[in-house]
Amino acid sequence: MMGAATARVPAKINLHLGVGPLRDDGYHELATLFCALSLYDDVTVRAADELSVTVRGDGRREVPADATNLAARAVVELASHVGGDPRVEIIIDKTIPVAGGMAGGSADAAGALVAAARLWRADVERAELVEIAASLGSDVPFSLAGGVALGTGRGERLLPVLSRGQFHWVLAVARTGLSTPAVYAELDRLRSRDDAATSAGTDRPDELMVALASGDVTAVAPLLRNDLQPAALSLQPMLRRTLRAGREAGALAGVVSGSGPTCAFLCADAQAAITVAAELSGSGVAKAVRTASGPVAGARLIPPD
Ligand code: C5P
Repeated sequence: MMGAATARVPAKINLHLGVGPLRDDGYHELATLFCALSLYDDVTVRAADELSVTVRGDGRREVPADATNLAARAVVELASHVGGDPRVEIIIDKTIPVAGGMAGGSADAAGALVAAARLWRADVERAELVEIAASLGSDVPFSLAGGVALGTGRGERLLPVLSRGQFHWVLAVARTGLSTPAVYAELDRLRSRDDAATSAGTDRPDELMVALASGDVTAVAPLLRNDLQPAALSLQPMLRRTLRAGREAGALAGVVSGSGPTCAFLCADAQAAITVAAELSGSGVAKAVRTASGPVAGARLIPPD
C-alpha cells in the first residue's frame, strides 16, 4: 500500500547545553551536545481529503491536533518546496514526553518530513530537508540526524561527534511540562540578577567529547551540564528533589534534559538503569519513569502498520 508512510523518530537529551547571550533574533547562541535516545514517536502520513492531525498515546491531550501542530507545518512546508499535496492525515503515536525538554515536537516534525517525502516520492536533497527542518525549529535538524552531534548557532547547525558504545539512562518525567521560551526567559532574568556565574557559555565541550569517544561512562558522568538547569529549577523547584532521588537511587549523574522538566540520569550499565528506574518509581517524585539508551539513529522509515 503506497498511500501511507511511517517514520520513527528518537527523543534527544543534551549532554551539554551551553547557552550564550540572547541574540537580536530572539534566540540564544548555543554550544550543545545532542544525543538521540531509544524513546520514539512514530509519525504516519496518509493521503486524505484534507489535512488533519491525530495524536495517540501519552500526553495526547496536551498536543495540538490541528494545523498548528509542528508536524502539520512540516508537511505544508515540504509540500510548497516539492509540489506535494498537503491534504494528508498525520497520525502521531507519542512516547516522547510532551513539553519535557526531549524534542518531542521536533521529532514529530522531522518524522512528518521523512514520511511525507516518501509518500510523495519527492526528489528532495538531504541538505534541502535539513534546511526546511531548521526553519521549523532549532532541534528539528538533530531529530533528522540522530546519533551524537555538536549543535551551534541556535542549535540547528550540526557536526557529528564520535561516541563509543551505548550509554544507559533513566528518565524521570515530571507531572507538568515547561515551555521552552519561558525557560530561556527565566535564564535571562536570573542572569540579569546574578551575572551568570554558573554559565558554561558557548565554548566547545572538548573534554566531554573526548570522554564520549572513549566510551567510558564514568568519565562522561561528571561532565554533563546544562545552563538551562537553574532556570528550570527556578520554575519547578520540585525538580531538585527528583535530581537528588536519582543520585540516591544509584545514578552516576543526573541533569535536567534541555529546557526540562524531564530529568535524565546516566547509569553505569543497563542493569543499573533498571535498578535506578525501580527506585525512582517507588519514590513518587515523577509522573513516569522510563529507561532508554543511546545514541540511536535519527528519523527513519519503518513499515506502516
Ligand atoms: O527553535 P524553537 O522554535 O524550538 O525555539 C523555541 C523557543 O525557544 C524560541 O522561540 C526561543 O524563545 C527559545 N530558544 C532560544 N534559543 C535557542 C533555541 C530556542 O532562546 N537557541
